[in-house]
Amino acid sequence: MKNGTPLIVVFFLFSIVFTGIQACDSKKVPHVVKASDADVPAGAVAEKRGRDLYLKHCSGCHHEERYGLVGPPLLPEYFGRKKAKAIREIIAEGLPATNMPPFKDLLKGAELDSILTYIRTPLESPVWGMDDIRKTWETSYFSLEEKEPRFDMSNFFMIVEGGEGRVHFMDGDSFQRLGVVDVGAIHGGPKYGRDLRYAFAISRGGLLVKYDLYDQKLVGKIRGGISTRNIAVSSSGDYIAQANLLPKNLVIIDAFSMKPKEIIDPEGTPGAVYTLKTRGQFVLSIKDKHEILLIDDSSLDLRRISIDQPFTDFFIDPKEGFLIGTARGSDHFSVVDLDKGEVVKTFPAEGGMPHLASAAVWTEGGDTFAAFPQIGKPLLTVMKMYDWEVMASVKTKGAGFFARTHDKIQHIWVDTGSDTIQLIDKKTLKAVAEVIPQPGKRAMHIEFDKEGRHALVSVWEDEGEVVIYDTAKLEVKKRMPFKKPVGKYNATNKNF
Ligand code: HEC
Repeated sequence: MKNGTPLIVVFFLFSIVFTGIQACDSKKVPHVVKASDADVPAGAVAEKRGRDLYLKHCSGCHHEERYGLVGPPLLPEYFGRKKAKAIREIIAEGLPATNMPPFKDLLKGAELDSILTYIRTPLESPVWGMDDIRKTWETSYFSLEEKEPRFDMSNFFMIVEGGEGRVHFMDGDSFQRLGVVDVGAIHGGPKYGRDLRYAFAISRGGLLVKYDLYDQKLVGKIRGGISTRNIAVSSSGDYIAQANLLPKNLVIIDAFSMKPKEIIDPEGTPGAVYTLKTRGQFVLSIKDKHEILLIDDSSLDLRRISIDQPFTDFFIDPKEGFLIGTARGSDHFSVVDLDKGEVVKTFPAEGGMPHLASAAVWTEGGDTFAAFPQIGKPLLTVMKMYDWEVMASVKTKGAGFFARTHDKIQHIWVDTGSDTIQLIDKKTLKAVAEVIPQPGKRAMHIEFDKEGRHALVSVWEDEGEVVIYDTAKLEVKKRMPFKKPVGKYNATNKNF
């Protein structure tokens, strides 16, 4: 710290009533339609029975409209790919070591089924407006204090522990854990804020949290949506854009005060939002429209770009001039020129289903390359950027999800859906080495430190770990236990 006394610290202590952490209350009387079962068709009877049971047993923790309270939202959008059988099992058995109780002794099989049917029914049009958002605002303080960080923030790490719904904070020089915050089921990566002083993380249930990286404490919360895809921090650091699936919108939140500023209607289902730093824009993909949106990240003016297919997966070139995207199941890629505002090239997506969002991008001898895995296939596709030509399909040991590299290292690290991470030489595009963090346990999601000296690999197990490798010697430097570590985010390599 430069000077011992804080410059200005403004304290705001607001009511700690926050929907996300409200105590269960069963006082609310459910509004039940009074119709005799004989008047309504069979499907509707089952649904009403499900709703009645839901209101009696579940709404106190999961919200009357299933939006989520202490428990997460119970909506099809929120369950994602979770199967009916798995959800039924949770209701019957509960979730050990959480507030989710087992219901198998309380409810008959048929009753369980009708609740299950009810919670898997989509909501017609959920309402979560400005007032609802504002009511959830909770900020402990804003610090305007000028401070010096105790660590090299540019080499800082955030580690998402999926099993526990937590984000851990770690110094990337000493690999020392510094703090942790409970977020709940996390969706999309946590993001670094302006000057790497704060970090922001979002839960799938729409709860945005702000964390002070210098003081290692939680400083603000707001629930900007019911079900959220991801967040992005504006180039100035002034705003957070929260892309919501429920309701379908983009909520802009002031990064300093954590107050909501604006709700933008994208007129479609948001895919994912990212920041185009050098352009001062947010880009939002729309999953069900042949369109992407560019939003000026200070004026919030919106520009729509027509494209030839809805992007469900895309990445941005390092100069932020182009977006390379594809639709699920599509046979081609489309390249969007962001200055011209149009698709300038399409080319075949040989090999099926690329995972573009996880592309590894690097430069070599003045040229830029991107490598990305094909979902479900043991293939890594390598593309020359700006020529937009697929150069090679490299066979890997197994179908993986992520490819990562760093300009200062010679390999592309790829996961293979197994215990093995393969290292592909950037020049020869041949697999030249491999690392196995824990035999028999699934290894995935690689991230490098600022200088590319170390690679952090997740052993993706309930009792998993993050294994830190020296990228030159390929030797293990440290092992750190985590429950289902998912992503790791370095402040320099993932600072967008
Ligand atoms: C006392 C509070 C409470 C009650 C009552 C309750 N739940 Fe939960 N429920 C929770 C909490 C908390 C979680 C999240 C646990 C965790 O993973 O941390 C949860 C999680 C769940 C999940 C898992 C969601 C997911 O996507 O992983 C389902 C499904 C669920 N509850 C269904 C129900 C149903 C159906 C009822 C009524 C029959 C019910 N719950 C009653 C608190 C409650």
